[in-house]
Amino acid sequence: MKREVLIYKGFERFWHWTQAFLIMFLAFTGFEIHGVYSFLGYREAVRWHNIAAYMFLGLTVFAIFWHLTTGEWKQYLPTLKNLKAYLEFYLFGIFKNAPHPTKKTVLSKLNPLQKLTYLGLKVVIFPMSVLSGLLFMFYRYPTRHGVDWINIGSLEIVAIVHTVAAFLLITFLIVHLYLITTGHTLFSNLRAMITGYEAIEDEEKQGSDAGTNPPKEVQDA
Ligand code: HEM
Repeated sequence: MKREVLIYKGFERFWHWTQAFLIMFLAFTGFEIHGVYSFLGYREAVRWHNIAAYMFLGLTVFAIFWHLTTGEWKQYLPTLKNLKAYLEFYLFGIFKNAPHPTKKTVLSKLNPLQKLTYLGLKVVIFPMSVLSGLLFMFYRYPTRHGVDWINIGSLEIVAIVHTVAAFLLITFLIVHLYLITTGHTLFSNLRAMITGYEAIEDEEKQGSDAGTNPPKEVQDA
């Protein structure tokens, strides 16, 4: 028996989709700044890139606050348990219709590979992108407020770090889009991030969330 359970709460879905849009927009304007194509024109691309960057920073502050106050940050604590099983699943099992090694629950909605990937995104790639982006914006500009003490001499290294982070984000995005389709059905993961609900295996104990979000019963397919 499966039940429809609220996996992604309202703010989480808002944060996810706004962040997805902003990252794609930042990539779009960023690669125009980089000189890959010309669409808005360099000056407009820089202006819109800066606006989107401030929105991304604002959203990130709210998201950090939400994760800390709800305790949802614990979802990202990495674990080695079942990591090998998931590596084998994504490399081989998935092509033979093997079942997912573990079942999703409200208290543990990310598998060990997702935990590692999202943690890496949050503690390595995002900071890399944001810090290099802020250095780009404010390094010695205007000079009297500049972060002279860093004394990096030129913005070249900053530009390289920022561009590498952008490529890493795009790689993540491509893999992420593929993995979205590998849920219980082709669209179950996408649907869950849109409606919040996903049909998951009935559990003896779903934790406190189950009480606040009464599950709707559905027949197992
Ligand atoms: C808060 C986050 C970010 C900030 C503050 C930021 C800021 C900046 C700034 C100030 C520039 C230089 C503009 C100029 O030349 O005047 C830049 C360039 C660029 N940004 Fe961002 N950015 C951020 C996020 C991103 C993201 C998420 C991506 C892509 C996914 C991205 C991709 C790029 C690219 C490709 C360039 C051109 C780099 C070059 O050719 O040197 N940025 N960014």
